Amino acid sequence: MGTVRLQKYLAECGIASRRKCEELIANGQVKVNGDIVTEPGTKVDALVDKIEFRDKNIELKPEKKVYIALYKPVGYVTTVNDEKGRSTVMELIKGIHERVVPVGRLDMYTSGLLLLSNDGEFINKITHPSHEMSKTYVVKVKGIPSDKELEKLRNGVRIDDFTTSPAKVEVLLEDKTNNISRLKIEIHEGKNRQVRKMVEAIGYSTITLKRESIDGITLEGLERGKWRFLSEDEVKCLMNC
Ligand code: URA
Repeated sequence: MGTVRLQKYLAECGIASRRKCEELIANGQVKVNGDIVTEPGTKVDALVDKIEFRDKNIELKPEKKVYIALYKPVGYVTTVNDEKGRSTVMELIKGIHERVVPVGRLDMYTSGLLLLSNDGEFINKITHPSHEMSKTYVVKVKGIPSDKELEKLRNGVRIDDFTTSPAKVEVLLEDKTNNISRLKIEIHEGKNRQVRKMVEAIGYSTITLKRESIDGITLEGLERGKWRFLSEDEVKCLMNC
């Protein structure tokens, strides 16, 4: 492995994303050869240095990298531990030893595709805004937005202190009897509750929200609550897109 930056090494050991590991280091939670190290860029050699996390005296070994696609049901939070005791997506990932973490977020009341991994580089690639991964959502809306309102959504709307980038918006259903519609929205950003806020910005509310895909990865063949490993080709595709 040679020498690597401490945060990269920790991320490769499945502790958390590289950015999160930088914080853990800066917070004094990591020791190298018995001394607390707070400089994230510190170079370590796993074959020579003893690296410990949270005083547990565990010598970390890089794990096999794994990549998972989960069909997240409504009612689960996308954190590893939840302070409020709510169900987390980790409860759905049974039978693997690697310490994967959710790649990005889905709201508790949003269902759909969630990726998990223990590969810090992969997590960074998918979550960093500069990589502009495409994400497609299907949203059931209370009411039927007009063409003009849909055009606003496509061109960008103001949410909080931010204007959304152009989005693809397709009408899948307009049910005048029940006054609901279903829209397919493709965005390349991932602000907190972005799709719900976009719908709100044109004067409507979201009834249900589901993420259908992240770049080429879809929910096809996955039952709600179930997961599968991504294939090598899928991982390569995500890393190179
Ligand atoms: N947009 C939302 O509003 N919620 C999500 O969970 C994802 C995107």
